[in-house]
Amino acid sequence: MSEWQKSDWRAKPRVQMPDYTDQTALEAVESQLSKYPPLVFAGEARKLKSQLAAASRGEAFLLQGGDCAESFEQFSANAIRDTFKVMLQMAMVLTYGAKVPVIKVGRMAGQFAKPRSAPTETVEGVELPSYRGDIINELAFTPEARIPDPAKMLQAYTQAAATLNLLRAFSTGGYADVHQVHQWTLGFTESEKAEQYRDLANRISDTLDFMRAAGVNSATAHSLQTVDFYTSHEALLLEYEEALCRLDSTSGKWLAGSGHMLWIGDRTRQPDGAHVEFCSGVLNPIGLKCGPSMTSDDLKALMAKLNPQNEEGRLTLIARFGAGKVAENLPRLIQTVKEEGANVLWTCDPMHGNTIKSSTGYKTRPFDSVLREVREFFGVHKAEGTIPGGVHFEMTGQDVTECTGGVRAVTDEDLSDRYHTACDPRLNASQSLELAFLVAEELSALRDVRQANAV
Ligand code: PEP
Ligand code: CO
Repeated sequence: MSEWQKSDWRAKPRVQMPDYTDQTALEAVESQLSKYPPLVFAGEARKLKSQLAAASRGEAFLLQGGDCAESFEQFSANAIRDTFKVMLQMAMVLTYGAKVPVIKVGRMAGQFAKPRSAPTETVEGVELPSYRGDIINELAFTPEARIPDPAKMLQAYTQAAATLNLLRAFSTGGYADVHQVHQWTLGFTESEKAEQYRDLANRISDTLDFMRAAGVNSATAHSLQTVDFYTSHEALLLEYEEALCRLDSTSGKWLAGSGHMLWIGDRTRQPDGAHVEFCSGVLNPIGLKCGPSMTSDDLKALMAKLNPQNEEGRLTLIARFGAGKVAENLPRLIQTVKEEGANVLWTCDPMHGNTIKSSTGYKTRPFDSVLREVREFFGVHKAEGTIPGGVHFEMTGQDVTECTGGVRAVTDEDLSDRYHTACDPRLNASQSLELAFLVAEELSALRDVRQANAV
């Protein structure tokens, strides 16, 4: 077999990618991007991989979340800070419940390209190409806005670089210090869950005071004052991904320099397609969305292609079946993984199988369905004796009204109040925290079962 090349995907069938009309402009952008610095480094991707390996053994837990689609227009320091803050809060709740380290991975700093259910969209009899994310075209419903423009890749790169810069500053510059646990309480999370979070924050503060008094703080100070925060996105726009691919001089392997972890969407996971081909050759941890149409044979072919060495931490299977459909789909895939003796990390995306149209016409996700899918995911793993190692979801630190339900009960009528997503409906801060408490409960129940079995 000849050696993998970062352009090999070009010879494979591609889906969900734009047809750029101006080839000269496209090539100029690709050439410029390929000279820019990578956004992440190989050592970081390897470190994340080893942490994901720990999660696949039940020694850590993956929390992956952020926007469905990052937007150029809504880009701001406050939005980044608020999403980061909610992720820290959730991680705190999960760590406390699960008693294992929580790996924090944002759908941030690169989550710009979107697969769509149809290539065109029709509004009042007018048909235009679909919006495919800010890195490709624009949301406005005009023929000009929907033309794919390669120059948008440069703007996406710049925004990703600035986002990552701020995330790195927050992670290590004092903001993420666990002693700040109270400051992460957002003003608007006035709910039962915010109260529960404050209780937990009080307990953590007490523990920290105790540790300080007992003189335990100095040795571990660094790990309490900083966090590892990683970035991820769907590897959809392969011209962008290829242009940011770099050879890692230490290992001689290729790194996707656009983010720490990349995933392959449920619509672009054809074993012989362009997206799988590209991801097969980079050293980063890879996620693979598994929807109801994933067969055992598909999964076998994909595992062979994406993780031929059966490396731990390399492949994360992201189950996204929809509430009520987990029991009929997940066991078949778990069985395949067992038969193949494959090393994978199982996580649950309770968002993408639960999108419906509300009575008021908005695309929404009932929060109850989201919670139910998470419970079903844990239930199946319990029955199979396998490890539920993480969650993946769409959320924002902003107080939006995009998903219905939750303790502060967003109704169909409320959706129009603050519906800001450029693509799929996201959980707001309060709903995200509520989800974290549910997952923490599931994890601590699991821990109790394991401890009982170990005795
Ligand atoms: C997504 O994660 O935004 C997405 C489109 O997911 P999926 O490929 O699972 O539908
Ligand atoms: Co989405």
